[in-house]
Amino acid sequence: MAKVGIFGAGWVGLVTGVCFAELGHEVVVRDVVPEKIERLRRGEVPFHEAQVPDLLERNRERLTFTLDVDEVVDCEFLFVCVDTPPTYSGDADLSRVWRVVDELPELPGHPILVMKSTVPVGTGEKVRAGLDARGLDHVGYASNPEFLAEGHAVSDFMGPDRVVVGAFEAADTDAVASLYDGIDTPIVRTDVNSAEMIKLAANAFLMTRISFINEIANVCEATGADVVAVAAGVGLDSRLGPHFLRAGIGYGGSCFPKDSLALKQLASNSGYHFQLLSAVIEVNELQKRRVIGKLKRHLGSLHGKTVALLGLAFKPNTDDMREAPSIVLASRLLAEGADVRAWDPVADGGTLPRGVEIVPSVADAVRGADAAVIVTEWDELRGLASEETRTAMANPLIIDGRNLLDPAETRLAGFTYEGIGRQAFAGDPSPTPTP
Ligand code: UGA
Repeated sequence: MAKVGIFGAGWVGLVTGVCFAELGHEVVVRDVVPEKIERLRRGEVPFHEAQVPDLLERNRERLTFTLDVDEVVDCEFLFVCVDTPPTYSGDADLSRVWRVVDELPELPGHPILVMKSTVPVGTGEKVRAGLDARGLDHVGYASNPEFLAEGHAVSDFMGPDRVVVGAFEAADTDAVASLYDGIDTPIVRTDVNSAEMIKLAANAFLMTRISFINEIANVCEATGADVVAVAAGVGLDSRLGPHFLRAGIGYGGSCFPKDSLALKQLASNSGYHFQLLSAVIEVNELQKRRVIGKLKRHLGSLHGKTVALLGLAFKPNTDDMREAPSIVLASRLLAEGADVRAWDPVADGGTLPRGVEIVPSVADAVRGADAAVIVTEWDELRGLASEETRTAMANPLIIDGRNLLDPAETRLAGFTYEGIGRQAFAGDPSPTPTP
C-alpha cells in the first residue's frame, strides 16, 4: 500500500482521497482553506455526494486532512486535484496547478506528481519543465485524468470503464497504475499529451451526443416524431449505444461547459477552428431557452405569470448549481416579467438571480402557479401529476424539461403537458412548433 498526497479538498480531491483510502492506501489531503480542513477533520463533507461520508467515516485512520504542505513530504504520489476554471479568454486557468508546483516542499526519493485536474494538452510538458527548473527533476510526472460523474462518483471510481495513465517514464506509468490494484478495469497506458486529450475528447463527445439528441428533439417537435422513441431506437445500434441520448434543456455542471470552452480555445490557440464543438456549445445555449417559447405558446405574455421551477441543480443527486440551466431559465423568466418560484430538494438556489422566491416544497412552488417547469429530473417529481398539484395550480400546465413524466398519464390526470421533442397533444392550445 502506498502513501498518497492529494492537493485540493474539492469534489475531485475528496472523492479520490476517500476512494484511495478505501483501497487501503494512506492518504493526506491538503487544502489551503482552513474552514474546509476543519470541517473534514470533524467528519463533515462540504458537498452532497453519495457514499463519500460513509467512506470518510470508515477510513478515518487512513485519512489525514491538513493545511501544512510539509505533511506530504513522505508521500510517494502527489495528486493535483485543484480547480482549473475558465479565464476570460476561455483558456483553462492553471494558476492553482502552478501554485501546487511552487509550494512543493523538498521531496526525498522519487515521488510522482499526478495530474487529476482537467488541463489543456501540453500542460504536463510545461509542468515537467517547471519541476526541472525548481530542481525537482527526481520527481516523476503522470497524467491520470478523472472520469467521475457527480452523484455516483464513488461507484465511478471503484468500477471505472478504464483508468488512463500517461507518463514520461514507463516505470512511473506502472507505479500510478498499481494504485488501482484491486479494481478490475483496462488500464490505458499512453503518453502525457494523449492522456490529457483523452479526458477532453471524452467530455466533448458526451456533450456532442447531448446537443445532437437535443437538435433531433427539436426536429421531432417540428415533424411529428417522438425523441424518446427515436433515442431508444437509435441507442439499440451497438455501434452507437444508449448513453447520453436523453433530450432535455441542455447540459450544465462544473465540467462540460468549462471543458468545452477550454478545448475550443486550445484548438484555436493552435490555429484550428473546432467547428463541431462550437456548434455543440451554441446548441446547448439555445436549448436552455426553449422552455420560454413553450411557456409563451401556452400562456401568451409571461408578464405577471407565476412560474414554478422544479429542480435547480444541474442534474439530480447533487446540490451543484454550477452552470445549471435553472440559472439561465430563471433569468430569462424574470426578464419576461414573470414571478418565479423555485424548489430543489438539496440545492439551496443561492446562485439564482435576485427576485426568485426559493420555497421549501413542491406544494409551495405550484400553489397558484400558471405553469410548472421540470428543470431537474429529481425522483421526488415523478408523482407531480397528482390531483393535489392540479387543484393547487391556477393553470395546470407542466413543461417537462427532462421528459420525466409519462405524457399520456399526465394529460389523463388533467394537465396540459409538453415535454422536449415530444408531440403536443391535439387538445393542447397550440400545436405549432417552438421556433
Ligand atoms: C461529466 C462526465 O459524465 C464525467 O465522465 C466527467 O468525469 C465529468 O463530467 C468531469 O469532467 O469531471 P458530470 O458533469 O458530473 O460528469 O455529469 P453528467 O452526468 O455527465 O451530466 C452532465 C450534464 O449533461 C447534466 O446537466 C445532465 O443533465 C446532462 N445530460 C446528460 C443530458 O442532458 N442528457 C444526457 O443524456 C446526459
